[in-house]
Parts: sequence; structure tokens; C-alpha cells
Amino acid sequence: MSGNGPLTRDPRVGDRSIRSIVYDEDTIRDRVAELGREITEAYPDGDVLVLGTLKGACLFMADLVRRIARPVQLDFVAASSYGSGTVSSGKVDFLYGPTVDVVGRTVLIVEDIVDSGATLEALVPRLVSMGASRVDICALLHKRLPTATVDVRFVGFDAPKSFLVGYGLDHAEDFRHLPYIASL
Ligand code: IMP
Ligand code: MG
Repeated sequence: MSGNGPLTRDPRVGDRSIRSIVYDEDTIRDRVAELGREITEAYPDGDVLVLGTLKGACLFMADLVRRIARPVQLDFVAASSYGSGTVSSGKVDFLYGPTVDVVGRTVLIVEDIVDSGATLEALVPRLVSMGASRVDICALLHKRLPTATVDVRFVGFDAPKSFLVGYGLDHAEDFRHLPYIASL
């Protein structure tokens, strides 16, 4: 499904309501391919630990790494700053990972969306304190809020400030499997 067709006809949405498609499948695929090329050029020697943030970055991570033409390794972390609401709690809990040793490694965090920036502000120093020699960030979406001062090296899209769902992004665990990104 692409474009702005009536979302009520998408059986994946069911009887829930979504406002409009913000990034359709083709737009996401093209931008992810470009990001893959940028990352490929940025790390000529590869040997990067690509670290996805669960669960939101799962679809983006899966598509992105298939576009990186370098030797890399994959790992995941789970951090929670949201609970089940739509406004960040500001407090970040680390629930899982990394499981691969980061000592002396270049780590590329793959994040679905930068909102308040709290998750990355907590995750980057955590990885540095674990011994990572370099930590870069690739975020599919960046809301460009004034609180988010963390340096994001690779950005897919400057996103609208509305609450977004789909392509990994959820609202109370719904909508993650949509192949497009929509506003709620
Ligand atoms: P931050 O810590 O406030 O930057 O938010 C980081 C995390 O909150 C993201 O990785 C998402 O998982 C989640 N999040 C932030 N904004 C949205 C949104 O618009 N829709 C769905 N999840 C979001
Ligand atoms: Mg996330």
C-alpha cells in the first residue's frame, strides 16, 4: 500500500484509526538505500558493530543492514523511556544488551526516531563507559526538538512533531508491522 489511500481499508490497521501516511513504502525504501550507501562510504574498513534499539528500530535495522556493503556485526539493546503513553517519561531504563563485547569497537546505534533525545543521551555514554572507542548514530527519523542535542551522524528524515506509528514505531505495541509510517 502506498500514497494516501483510505487507511480504513488496510486490514493491518483493523478498526483503529490512523490520520495519514507520512512516508510510504517506496519513500522509505529509497531513503534507506541512500543511508546504506552513506554508511558504506563512511566506514571503508567496515568492522562496525551495528546496534539496533529494540523494538522500534527492528524493521529499519533489518532493511538498512542489507544495504551496507561492508563487514559488520549486529547486536541489539532494549531501552524504555515511554511506557505505554505518547509522551516521553524522560527516564531511561536499559532492559537488555549489548551482548557483544564493545571494547575498542566502532558502534553504530540504529534508532527508529529521535524525540526528546533522552534515550540516546543515556545510551551513548553507557557504551563509551563499556569501552566503545567510537559511537555514531543513525536515526531513521529526527523530530529536531530543542532538547535533542545529541549528534546524529546519519538521519533518514526530519520528521513532523506529531506522534508517528508504523515501520517499527508503535502506540502501545500496535502498528509496528505497518510497512509505511503514519501519524496517529
Ligand atoms: P526519546 O528518548 O524521547 O528521543 O525517544 C526515543 C524513543 O521513543 C524512540 O526510539 C521511540 O521508540 C519512541 N518514540 C519517540 N517518538 C515516537 C513517535 O512519534 N512514535 C512512536 N514512538 C516514538
Ligand atoms: Mg526506539
